[in-house]
Amino acid sequence: AKQKPWSGRFTEPTDAAVEAFTASVDFDRRLYVYDIMGSIAHAQMLAKVGVLTKKECDAIVRGLKEIEAEIDAGKFDWSVALEDVHMNIEARLIQRIGEVGKKLHTGRSRNDQVATDLRLYLRDGIDVVSHGLGQLQQAILDIAEREAATPMPGFTHLQVAQPITFGHHMLAWFEMLARDAQRLQDCRKRMNIMPLGAAALAGTSFPIDRAWTAKLLGFDSPAENSLDAVSDRDFAIEFVAAAALLMTHLSRMSEELVLWSSSQFGFVELSDAYCTGSSIMPQKKNPDVPELVRGKTGRVNGHLVALLTLMKAQPLAYNKDNQEDKEPVFDTLDTMLGSLRVFAGMIPSMKVRRDQLLRAAVMGHATATDLADYLVRQGVAFRDAHEIVGKAVRLAIDTDRDLSQIDLDEYKKLSPAIGKDVYGVLTVEGSLKARNHLGGTAPSQVKAAIKRARQRMQRS
Ligand code: ARG
Repeated sequence: AKQKPWSGRFTEPTDAAVEAFTASVDFDRRLYVYDIMGSIAHAQMLAKVGVLTKKECDAIVRGLKEIEAEIDAGKFDWSVALEDVHMNIEARLIQRIGEVGKKLHTGRSRNDQVATDLRLYLRDGIDVVSHGLGQLQQAILDIAEREAATPMPGFTHLQVAQPITFGHHMLAWFEMLARDAQRLQDCRKRMNIMPLGAAALAGTSFPIDRAWTAKLLGFDSPAENSLDAVSDRDFAIEFVAAAALLMTHLSRMSEELVLWSSSQFGFVELSDAYCTGSSIMPQKKNPDVPELVRGKTGRVNGHLVALLTLMKAQPLAYNKDNQEDKEPVFDTLDTMLGSLRVFAGMIPSMKVRRDQLLRAAVMGHATATDLADYLVRQGVAFRDAHEIVGKAVRLAIDTDRDLSQIDLDEYKKLSPAIGKDVYGVLTVEGSLKARNHLGGTAPSQVKAAIKRARQRMQRS
């Protein structure tokens, strides 16, 4: 086995099962770019304050860059005996450049190293996710614009409630995602603080310049407290919490797409490219993509609970428990990115079936509230109006008609306040147009909201 960097005080070798059990290199090697970035900045800072000579620093930096190229090319020999990404890279550095490589770890610990790596990694991760999220938001706005005036039934309790436009529904999705984007940016701000210099837990006796290193790595500032810097993973928990909400939103959208693409609803048709067939039932076209996104949401929610539980009983400062943060964090990022990418492709290719949407809006007595509002405008109290309209709906159901098909003399029997102008409010179009205020579903309001949404996207 390779010699461990910490073997000095040990007289017996590590048990083979323990070696495998404690190693993280199989998954934390993913951090190598950030580990090397952090090491280069650390070495340069050590040279700046005179702990390393310029020559030593140059050799270390060159060596680290060569190692990065080796790993990029898949030519790096990862060793489980060397435990994690940090010690693998350091050992290789010493192997490549000799004695001087042993000086890199001056004034540093793997504890501040890993806390730094993970922050750098997630900072980039947030930027990639934000880009993918932005593309999905744009795709949703495009559909909203195209369907700004397309009537559909709006639901509460999954029962037809009132007419809305498809564009209005898309804008609801947009707002959910806009908050997710903000949450990720908020989380990024708190994440972008540098642990380096905290060393193991108490700082270091070398005259380090943390502000300088922070600047080099693009951090907003060094962490204030060394114990806190190496021990808390709240930044990772916040990230996964934001991810869990984003996934929860995607999952709700997925649920709607699954329902809407069923033949019972028939509101949309997902493109063949985003569906699969059945091995036994020839007629099937299954909405696997939204179903999988809905399913994967459970994973991410689970990761959030895993991380919270990982953290809750740790005394300060660093504990090895924290090594367990990586797999949930990595899987969260992968799952979220994968889900965003398929969604951003699936949404623009979905066919919106306007005829079916309109039929469903008309059939579901969705304009009943409009009839009640009409009666109120004729001087009937709302509670009485509610009762009258309830009877009208009963009549419509019993005679298999919609509200606009009930004759005026039938209406007159229910309430003398109803005149023939009532038919103007019983249409879906009339109902939509009436909801004409900020945030409402009138097509003109939906169009204005889309315009504002596009401006917000440009600003963010
Ligand atoms: N692999 C470790 C982790 O992921 C790195 C830090 C190890 N530090 C230590 N003192 N054992 O957390």
